[in-house]
Amino acid sequence: MNKLKRFLSFLMILILFVVISITSINVSARENQQEISPVSRGAQIYDDWTVVIPNAPVPVGNNPIWSRQTNNTRSGLDTWRCVVCHGWDYQGKDGAFRSGSNETGFSGILEASSKDIASLKAALDGTTDSQHNFTSILTDEDVESVITFIQTGLIDDNEYIDLVSRKVIAGDLNNGKEKYQQACSSCHGEDGTLATFRYEGTEVALGTLAIQDPWRFLHRTRFGTARAPEMPLGYELGWTAEDSRDVVYYVQSSFPTGFEAMENQPVDVEPVENLGGPAQNWFSGIVTAFGAMATSLGFAILLGAFFVGIILLLVWLLRSRQSK
Ligand code: HEC
Ligand code: HEC
Repeated sequence: MNKLKRFLSFLMILILFVVISITSINVSARENQQEISPVSRGAQIYDDWTVVIPNAPVPVGNNPIWSRQTNNTRSGLDTWRCVVCHGWDYQGKDGAFRSGSNETGFSGILEASSKDIASLKAALDGTTDSQHNFTSILTDEDVESVITFIQTGLIDDNEYIDLVSRKVIAGDLNNGKEKYQQACSSCHGEDGTLATFRYEGTEVALGTLAIQDPWRFLHRTRFGTARAPEMPLGYELGWTAEDSRDVVYYVQSSFPTGFEAMENQPVDVEPVENLGGPAQNWFSGIVTAFGAMATSLGFAILLGAFFVGIILLLVWLLRSRQSK
């Protein structure tokens, strides 16, 4: 009896131990979903440290530097994000944020990529500009990652994306397609519409982002987005900046963008019935007739509902008369 008790409590402890270790393995696996290099981590901090840094102290109100401009109406946490001031193309007032609602007039950091660690540290800890101080948010390690990103991860987007037309310059479509299908289509789908995300207040798919904000697309293809921690990062896959550019190019030129209606209207208008004489064209005639029926189907349903309503009303009137 005593033996059985001891055995049972031993068993209980064993089970408890196994359960605890399994759950803790699970938790830590979720926390570091991907081991990423300091460059990518720095890039994600640059994008949105509020999501990347666990339990980061959240500053109240706007960044004090924000009041040096009046055009951009964002407020709160956004005004503490590096990218909001310096841009997805790292060029600030000289790049994509040179005009429009994102304009702040703040300078870029592209030229800072050639600066040494000490002066970049001085830029971030308030030494250079007392209001440009991120030491209460970023740990030393975070700052080092950001500096590594600035020194080795920055690219001149003007070599890849036309600043005015937003079109990718000199991309390789086949390479982009191959890379996309290898690493991206499992979640985003063959035409990029399987997953949606928020962009400027609406849910959009990849094709829309690629033509609206190819700079953000390129940055997040290279370094990911903290909002999708399971997403593979181009940089970690060993892709060059050109490989990531090619993916943006493929998406930009092949995927639905949400703007087709405007672009394709002139083509759609060409009437099918005018292709030849009526004698050879009985088939397209039938197709057109079916087309017309299909489009009027919606109206027919409405009409049907209307008549059913009237019949019901009549029945109701007759019955209420009978009962009098
Ligand atoms: C509210 C806007 C704003 C935010 C947010 C911001 N910066 Fe800056 N940054 C500036 C301005 C303006 C300058 C120009 C010099 C100055 O006044 O400090 C600057 C300068 C810099 C410089 C020095 C550039 C040079 O050429 O020496 C670096 C590097 C830099 N920022 C990186 C960052 C990083 C990294 C973050 C995020 C952790 C960040 N900034 C967040 C506005 C901002
Ligand atoms: C494991 C699934 C998964 C894979 C694989 C994946 N993504 Fe994503 N991706 C997501 C999810 C989920 C989102 C939406 C995140 C959100 O809601 O903001 C997203 C969002 C994006 C965005 C939009 C980010 C933004 O600006 O808001 C881009 C661009 C993107 N993915 C590109 C890619 C590319 C390029 C690849 C291939 C290298 C890829 N993704 C592979 C899951 C994935």
